[in-house]
Amino acid sequence: MRMVDLIAKKRDGGTHSREELRFIVDGFTGGDIPDYQMSAFLMSVFYKGMEDGETAALTQLMAQSGEMVDLSSIEGVKVDKHSTGGVGDKTTLIAAPIAAACGVKIAKMSGRGLGFTGGTVDKLESIPGFRTELPRQEFLEIVKKTGICVIGQSGNLAPADKKIYALRDVTATVDSIPLIAASIMSKKIAAGNDCILLDVKTGSGAFMKEMEDAVKLADIMVRIGEKAGRRTMALITNMDIPLGRAIGNVSEVREAVETLRGRGPADLSAVCRELAANMIALAGGGEIERCRELAAKAMEDGSAFQKLREMVKAQGGDVSVIDDPESFPKAGIAHEVLAPQDGYLSAMDAAQCGIASMLLGAGRATKESVIDHSAGIELVKKTGEPVKKGEVIARFMTNDESAIAGAEETYGNALSFSAEPPVQEKLIIARVT
Ligand code: URA
Repeated sequence: MRMVDLIAKKRDGGTHSREELRFIVDGFTGGDIPDYQMSAFLMSVFYKGMEDGETAALTQLMAQSGEMVDLSSIEGVKVDKHSTGGVGDKTTLIAAPIAAACGVKIAKMSGRGLGFTGGTVDKLESIPGFRTELPRQEFLEIVKKTGICVIGQSGNLAPADKKIYALRDVTATVDSIPLIAASIMSKKIAAGNDCILLDVKTGSGAFMKEMEDAVKLADIMVRIGEKAGRRTMALITNMDIPLGRAIGNVSEVREAVETLRGRGPADLSAVCRELAANMIALAGGGEIERCRELAAKAMEDGSAFQKLREMVKAQGGDVSVIDDPESFPKAGIAHEVLAPQDGYLSAMDAAQCGIASMLLGAGRATKESVIDHSAGIELVKKTGEPVKKGEVIARFMTNDESAIAGAEETYGNALSFSAEPPVQEKLIIARVT
């Protein structure tokens, strides 16, 4: 087999066999296929797409390029949850403890934030002492003991994806549905859970700006998961505005705790309850209505909050900040952003809000950037709410005075105002099974 022939085949709209895809994945991961040939192949896929069977085979091959995590020593049904990424998305910190409180086993590997999106591992690391890197045996033991453990992704999980993603990032080939589906699902399959709940975001702060694309991505990922023997489902949820009122690591953990105590923002509470209910349903909890009731009860009776507490303790974190979130370290500067006019806040571009937060120090411009856990934005006003000129609409938290002007300009550009209240968008848009 020659790579040049396989590139030409895809360029001309052909369909690759599993053996041909194996040649490509193994060859590139092993260093026999150079970046320039792989780039040409990826661009051909970008333009010509892939058949579903090809995407599923590519996913399996990428998953098998590294460690396939074995969770079989943990009794019960292990359910993973994956969000395609967003702004203010702290749902894992809430939905996973709710599901765990209802008996679902959570043995989860999460990622870090990049660009305007945040990552669960960064949020967890804002809890003093919290360990996101654990020896495999300790990870398994914590799940067996407490029912929940969330750590960073193992370095050897789907190494083919790591290498291919790095090349996609610099060759303008990230935005391809089969490549995104294979990338996400290869890691999910390698992570070893029995069931997978996908939270596919759509809107201004999501990878998939259009609903139709989000549904297409969800649909192919669900089929790949099922084909790999994992019960898989997806929710399509709104990421046109940030979720909740907190962006930034410490503030998001604080908001997650408040939400688990029943004092969270309505949008965040509703999305987390639905995610948790679907995780419970995947684990065999029965009809979705019953699972919704179980999730709501775990939030109301404090058992979900206790699960988060147990997890933080087991992973070395300082539980006192969970008990009293006001005791989290605070940023040195709190800068108030004022409304430039009267009216209704009619739209907030979530990606721009995420970039403003990143400029304040909460996110990473590049993989190497160091983040400031205390930095971020409190969204005092959100889409749909009335504002008066000069009223506080947001609060910036930062330790970098020089970042404020740029962040304020970016944040200002994210907002639109109207004389009439805007139409409220749906939060949970569809369920793909
Ligand atoms: N997230 C991933 O892990 N991979 C992609 O290709 C896109 C988003």
